[in-house]
Amino acid sequence: MKSPIEDTIWGASYGSVAAVQAAFDRFGPEYHDAILASGAPAGAAQALMSHLNPDAQGIDFGCGSGVLGIALRALGLKKPLDGLDVSAGMLELAHQTGCYRELRQANLLLTESYPKASGVSYDFAISMGLVGDYVPYYLALPHIVQTLRPGGFLGFAVESRSTPWRPLEKLLTDLGLTTLSETILPVPEGKLTAQSYHFYVAQIR
Ligand SMILES: C[S@@+](CC[C@H](N)C(=O)[O-])C[C@H]1O[C@@H](n2cnc3c(N)ncnc32)[C@H](O)[C@@H]1O
Repeated sequence: MKSPIEDTIWGASYGSVAAVQAAFDRFGPEYHDAILASGAPAGAAQALMSHLNPDAQGIDFGCGSGVLGIALRALGLKKPLDGLDVSAGMLELAHQTGCYRELRQANLLLTESYPKASGVSYDFAISMGLVGDYVPYYLALPHIVQTLRPGGFLGFAVESRSTPWRPLEKLLTDLGLTTLSETILPVPEGKLTAQSYHFYVAQIR
């Protein structure tokens, strides 16, 4: 059974982007506390940080309230991240963490919302709770990968139950990514629905 927060947020994911945005605007602070308490952001940061230089510059797609920025900083990342999200409420919470440099409101279902490949060259990109849940992996991943410098790292989670593994792994190969690790990050039942994120760390050629 889903909690009231998740009923609203997941229900909204099957409706309009405006409904998703409104749900996260409203439940952002509760979501922030619940996902931090689950330990999933810390687990994702641990898996990715072992490959990063502390001076690495990264970008967080669907950054939400900034929990990945908090978790990466706790493990020694020095530079604040750039972040994109559709919810102004979540972006305000991310701003308050002090772990983000530039934050931009963007609908990542739209190709034009992604940073132009020619204009950016990040050392790493990270995303949790966006790919698969709200934006299809085959739409998001090619655009995310284009923001990386050669040899850059990608850490991204997909929700385990709803992911077609073989097509996803074929796409990673087609995009020139080598998978370095896969970590299961459980989110226990509580304020959030019990689920489990499958967090990939990959490197681009
Ligand atoms: C489950 S939360 C994850 C937030 C954060 N990454 C975390 O791990 O806590 C999903 C986030 O995706 C954002 N989102 C949903 N649909 C989106 C879209 N089409 N474009 C950009 N962000 C979107 C929501 O606003 C929300 O902040």
